[in-house]
Amino acid sequence: MNADGRTRLNQTPEWTALAKHREELGEVRLRELFAGDPGRGTAYTLRVGDLYIDYSKHLVTDDTLRLLRELALATDVFGLRDAMFGGERINTTEDRAVLHTALRAARDTVVEVDGENVVPAVHAVLDKMADFAGRVRSGEWTGHTGKRIRNVVNVGIGGSDLGPAMAYEALRAFTDRDLTVRFVSNVDGADLHEAIRDLDPAETLFIIASKTFTTIETVTNATSARGWLLNALKDEAAVARHFVALSTNAEKVAGFGIDTANMFEFWDWVGGRYSYDSAIGLSLMIAIGPDRFREMLDGFRLVDEHFRTAPAESNVPLLLGLLGVWYGNFHDAQSHAVLPYSHYLSKFTAYLQQLDMESNGKYVGRDGREVEWQTGPVVWGTPGTNGQHAYYQLIHQGTKLIPADFIGFAEPVAELSGEPAAQHDLLMANFFAQTQALAFGKTPDEVRGEGVPEELVPHKTFKGDHPTTTILARELTPSVLGQLVALYEHKVFVQGAVWNIDSFDQWGVELGKVLAKRVEPALTEGADVPGLDASTKALVATYRELRGR
Ligand code: F6P
Repeated sequence: MNADGRTRLNQTPEWTALAKHREELGEVRLRELFAGDPGRGTAYTLRVGDLYIDYSKHLVTDDTLRLLRELALATDVFGLRDAMFGGERINTTEDRAVLHTALRAARDTVVEVDGENVVPAVHAVLDKMADFAGRVRSGEWTGHTGKRIRNVVNVGIGGSDLGPAMAYEALRAFTDRDLTVRFVSNVDGADLHEAIRDLDPAETLFIIASKTFTTIETVTNATSARGWLLNALKDEAAVARHFVALSTNAEKVAGFGIDTANMFEFWDWVGGRYSYDSAIGLSLMIAIGPDRFREMLDGFRLVDEHFRTAPAESNVPLLLGLLGVWYGNFHDAQSHAVLPYSHYLSKFTAYLQQLDMESNGKYVGRDGREVEWQTGPVVWGTPGTNGQHAYYQLIHQGTKLIPADFIGFAEPVAELSGEPAAQHDLLMANFFAQTQALAFGKTPDEVRGEGVPEELVPHKTFKGDHPTTTILARELTPSVLGQLVALYEHKVFVQGAVWNIDSFDQWGVELGKVLAKRVEPALTEGADVPGLDASTKALVATYRELRGR
């Protein structure tokens, strides 16, 4: 029994039924499932917005899907969903509401937190962002010397970096190509150095993005950036024209020396990894313009509405979340690959790593007890076709089960429409070929039929039965990007709900931060840090020796 009076997940009849079903299914063969149901390739598909989702190449039957939905019902996934959309404090360890969905709510929607409708404030900030972005884009907002802003550097880390950086890359074809937009996150000085070394300070705007405005990496980089600017412009007053802040913490922003008139606000009910459609997206909005940014929000909202209202049978985030549960908990899969066949999505999986792994990488349940089941997977992947020539070998013929999402587009972005059409078809031929090969493999007889010598037959055989989801859309537009991100946000939510963990805190990153602060004086001053373990002590001594200290 859970401390909250609920039966522990792995003791529920729904969990037990799934375990039994898994045993009975044994080694499911996708070849057999497809042979037994000629309609499977269209029946096991769903649509949401512009996304076509094919889940036919999964090791599931109708029974599996029914049992998974029963588990979702038993764990009250939809109850928690409604509590989230309703502004309840479902982030219990931080006692906060979880309302990234309010960031894309229509202007006339009412979403209350503690009796107050938060939507007007959301739109007030969006309007302020749009006004500022418009002024930067038109050249009306100039730097301290009157020069036009040509460079925008977002300084932030984690959720204050990955979202806008990923989306900027994804929507490059929609950006103002006359603007240089860069993202600095790492406390390694090399990051800032490389981002600004060829820029003119008089033409550079720094956007300091930090929910808390206490994150050491961001504050350190922001301080260095200010030093670089003042070194060139030699006037403190320049900071007001070259620095703006995105934060929930006005006091710290002012303390850093940024005029709070140049601060774009968001709220504690927006988690860092769920924040890029808040003020945190300012760099993106400057790059693509307010209209495109709003189109992206519309895409998010479309999937929010689907998740909130679609029945379990056709609810895409629910389905994707449950498929992850099926592999993680009943097939011992440890990881999940996300493989976009769009070079513009080169940062998409890195973005999802924070979204998924910071949300669901937890071994303590909402009831404060250790879970007895696997939680979040390792999320990884890079765009196809590059991965095909690197690690796909292991997915095809390795010893691990790696469920994968393949994301592709029927059209290249408009800018590429002058390119030979065959280039995009070639990309997509690979996209379709890979999921086919993963699902159906190649039998020894098929290999023999090609005249392969007997001793090579086992090496050239592909067992298949590697499960994939295919997500296909016409084109990667701002709206489609919003739809994709919302889809994954809600998928992660579903899994956290089933596993009974708080997907919205991140206590696991705190210890490293505390220890780094403690170790730093040992590096710089050789201070004797009490309680330092023998390994770290020796490493620190070697580091100091190598630095000639
Ligand atoms: O250390 C993890 C984290 O707290 C993330 O959750 C967050 O996105 C990131 O740091 C940055 O935090 P902030 O926006 O407050 O600087």
